[in-house]
Amino acid sequence: MTTAVASAPILPQLEGANLLNLMIVDDERAIREACREVAQSLGFNTCVADSAEHSYRMLDAQGVDVVLLDLKLPGAGGLEALHQIRERRADAVVIVVTGYGTVQSAVQAMKNGAYDYVTKPFSMDELKLLLQRVSGHLKLKTENRLLREKIKSKQGFGSIVGRAPEMEKLYRIIAKAAHSNHPVLILGESGTGKEIVARSIHYSGPFHDKPFIPVDCGSLVPTLIESELFGYVKGAFTGAVQSREGLLAIAEGGTVFLDEVGELSVDLQAKLLRSIQEKEIRPVGSTKRVPINVRILAATNRDLEQAVAQGTFRRDLYFRLNVLSLRIPALRERRQDIPLLTAHFLERLSRASAQERSLSDDAMKALLACDWPGNVRELENCLERACAFTSGPMIQACGLPSAIHSVQSTMPAGGNGVAKIVPIADLEKQTIINTIGQLNGDKLLAAKLLGIGKTTLYRKLKEYAAQD
Ligand SMILES: Nc1ncnc2c1ncn2[C@@H]1O[C@H](COP(=O)(O)OP(=O)(O)OP(=O)(O)O)[C@@H](O)[C@H]1O
Ligand SMILES: [Mg+2]
Repeated sequence: MTTAVASAPILPQLEGANLLNLMIVDDERAIREACREVAQSLGFNTCVADSAEHSYRMLDAQGVDVVLLDLKLPGAGGLEALHQIRERRADAVVIVVTGYGTVQSAVQAMKNGAYDYVTKPFSMDELKLLLQRVSGHLKLKTENRLLREKIKSKQGFGSIVGRAPEMEKLYRIIAKAAHSNHPVLILGESGTGKEIVARSIHYSGPFHDKPFIPVDCGSLVPTLIESELFGYVKGAFTGAVQSREGLLAIAEGGTVFLDEVGELSVDLQAKLLRSIQEKEIRPVGSTKRVPINVRILAATNRDLEQAVAQGTFRRDLYFRLNVLSLRIPALRERRQDIPLLTAHFLERLSRASAQERSLSDDAMKALLACDWPGNVRELENCLERACAFTSGPMIQACGLPSAIHSVQSTMPAGGNGVAKIVPIADLEKQTIINTIGQLNGDKLLAAKLLGIGKTTLYRKLKEYAAQD
């Protein structure tokens, strides 16, 4: 029997380079050496073991990303070795090596978690291709993980700014909700931060490495929402040239965030309710049901109880979604957070434009006096515009968008010298309609400039159409 030696990498370790560690487990010295040469030529760090037991000792002692495992080892059977390796390194990619005529055991190994297999005798080119594929796969996996981490740190709990007592209460509910698997209904006016709260619930929970998929129920037409949510099979409708998985299935193990859930048609409400209750979906055009394992978060700025009373929202779905509920306070209810939010946005804007920005006392007074019907989003957009229109480091009150004072300035005077009172809703409607007109019908730009979400804009336009 030959003695196995853990090798040092023979390729120069480039600074910052992240070489993959490959372990070769084979009792034939010639095979170990040949595989090692190929792996090293591709830039892997390698180590070798001549028995299953030896490989376990090495796994306990060092990091291993890829294992090339001979299924026919003396002592422990290959499948048992695979099991032990996966117990120790669930993340490692295992390629099994099998003899001619024993492919059946390789198939079994793949069912037990092996990534791929090669049959002996194999050419070095064959091995090279396989290892290249593995390294591509691991690179992608790392990139995805980094991306998720980046999003997580950007959108996580920490990114919600606010110290008002209502916000502290909200953080406690978010922490509780994150560790349960129940649906959560997130309530709050437009721009209060419903989406970042939903992301925080997902990313601070145990399934944060699974997908978080937002679905905008307000801006998609019902047939599109149905095929997006439930998926469809080839030929289900004109244009369905191939089958597509629905978002409720794609989010497997993670969260689907149903934004503006109050906008769902009654027909879709019934389908959604059934999917949540039975934990399965039926893709459009299919007769088969597909099991799903997904957490539902929903948000709305509508009064759903009123919608239930009016018969436009199903009571049973409302109860299903409302197992836990939280309400995000409007910005005018927590004015003490305005300076904190302002500092947060100014810091971000300063960083983005590489120009320090601060606010004069007068400008801060104006921000504190405003009612912010578009809430935090409106404050964020207002500061963005102020920065764009201010060349120096200090933003003065006159540098703030005039929309902040529009409520006072647009009030026409009545005959008795007292300003005629105009309901805010009317002013809002007029502003929205005028802005869209000025922008030649560009609703997306109008929403951005007005500091409201596009969903909110679409919903309001629908409401105006129903009133007229
Ligand atoms: N507490 C907060 N701290 C920091 N940023 C916030 C906060 N609340 C909201 N924001 C920011 O305000 C903007 C609007 O937030 P979000 O999209 O979550 O609101 P929303 O309630 O979903 O709005 P809408 O109903 O219009 O869709 C985002 O850019 C978000 O990052
Ligand atoms: Mg939203």
